[in-house]
Amino acid sequence: MKRRQQLKVILGQGSQVRSYQYRLTVISVGILFFFCWVFPGVALAERVTETQLQQIEQQWQGSAHALAGVNCSSCHQNDQTKAFIAKPTHESCTSCHENSVDTFLLGKHGVRTLEGLSPLTPAMAHLPMKDSSLDQQMNCNTCHNVHTVNTYEASVDSCLTCHNDNHSLNYKNSPHAQIFREIGTLPRPNSDSVTCATCHLPREAAGDAVLVNHNNTYTLKPRDRMVKEVCMNCHGVEHAYNSIFDDELVEANFARPPTQELQTFELVRDLEKKRSSKATQ
Ligand code: HEC
Ligand code: HEC
Ligand code: HEC
Ligand code: HEC
Ligand code: HEC
Ligand code: HEC
Repeated sequence: MKRRQQLKVILGQGSQVRSYQYRLTVISVGILFFFCWVFPGVALAERVTETQLQQIEQQWQGSAHALAGVNCSSCHQNDQTKAFIAKPTHESCTSCHENSVDTFLLGKHGVRTLEGLSPLTPAMAHLPMKDSSLDQQMNCNTCHNVHTVNTYEASVDSCLTCHNDNHSLNYKNSPHAQIFREIGTLPRPNSDSVTCATCHLPREAAGDAVLVNHNNTYTLKPRDRMVKEVCMNCHGVEHAYNSIFDDELVEANFARPPTQELQTFELVRDLEKKRSSKATQ
């Protein structure tokens, strides 16, 4: 058998195996071969121990990817050249998640990568960042563990491995955080809960699907874009505007009701009063 055919059989791609259990065993054996035998030296060069490899395999087996038949080679092998990729980048996701990649590259998190510069790191930031995160490079695998592809952890915990400003740290005190703790539900955050991602990486309808807009600048510029895109799914327009233009309330991460009343709304109400009193005259 040629090497490539062997690989296909090992990874279960070309085989006619029907039994799921059997397939998993075949795949497990395949994974070890894939890293240690088919590409000799790679595992050693990457200093990956067999225990680590088993851990990764277990993480992957519980993931949405394993369920959908996306396996090691889907990301660790170049489609055209079939070359082995030890540390895949966002390019390995593009073929299946074009929208996530495109939107990621347009926001502050991804734009350096789009421009061909080195990835964004917290060391470059002017906003406060955790010391332990300073040399982390921003990519898909920074928020998602690429082997579990867990979106629950990505929604709050991952952000707080880097962000260290008052607004971010105060999130945990907000009614929004309480809702997330109570009804967040695994594996995807429940749509009645409010996470960092609800406001900064909002879900948007795209045809029949709902996709996450990974552009983390989008809802900030202009600031009140978030009102229409996010807050008004749950709050009235007045509550939302009064909250979002209150700098202290933003810093407190919306942990109390808004106290200010924007003049615009008073003007609108006055106008309405005048109009209705004219109409009754
Ligand atoms: C969804 C795409 C994807 C799938 C599926 C996937 N990987 Fe990965 N893997 C990646 C990415 C991306 C990285 C690089 C992470 C980084 O840069 O830290 C990686 C890194 C690794 C590493 C290096 C880890 C390290 O700490 O250096 C190993 C080993 C590995 N994967 C093994 C596997 C095995 C075995 C499978 C199948 C059970 C698998 N991967 C499935 C995307 C994937
Ligand atoms: C061969 C196609 C393919 C590749 C390559 C791929 N994915 Fe996926 N991914 C899927 C499918 C299919 C699903 C499950 C259905 C869905 O949610 O769209 C999925 C789901 C996901 C989810 C959601 C998981 C959940 O619990 O809902 C995340 C996050 C994800 N992928 C991230 C990545 C990242 C990051 C990469 C690149 C490192 C990648 N994927 C590469 C096909 C792929
Ligand atoms: C800043 C953190 C962050 C980065 C970086 C990131 N993601 Fe996500 N991603 C999330 C969060 C959080 C969710 C879930 C949000 C939700 O469901 O409310 C998510 C959801 C997803 C989903 C499932 C929902 C969907 O739209 O299909 C996919 C697929 C995905 N991400 C792929 C990627 C890819 C590919 C990259 C790299 C280009 C990437 N992500 C980079 C945080 C991130
Ligand atoms: C690897 C560290 C890291 C992670 C993880 C991370 N960020 Fe960031 N984020 C940054 C850095 C660095 C900046 C740029 C800050 C600066 O320039 O001062 C940034 C910028 C931002 C901005 C400002 C965007 C703008 O255009 O001004 C928002 C909002 C943001 N991040 C939200 C999030 C959210 C929400 C998550 C989790 C879903 C997250 N971040 C995860 C490092 C990270
Ligand atoms: C209910 C919506 C909401 C939630 C939840 C939320 N934010 Fe924000 N975030 C905002 C608003 C509004 C701003 C202020 C925008 C402005 O000042 O122009 C902001 C600003 C930011 C900024 C600063 C951007 C800049 O350039 O100054 C970062 C970073 C950020 N948020 C990260 C997070 C993180 C991390 C979490 C979760 C721990 C989170 N946010 C939760 C709405 C939210
Ligand atoms: C998925 C629904 C949802 C979204 C989206 C949402 N919220 Fe909330 N918010 C709630 C719920 C539920 C509460 C707690 C009950 C209440 O006080 O109304 C709450 C509470 C608040 C509070 C505190 C009110 C109080 O009485 O203590 C403020 C302020 C707030 N939200 C502002 C915002 C802003 C601003 C946005 C958009 C950036 C937003 N919310 C997005 C559901 C949401």
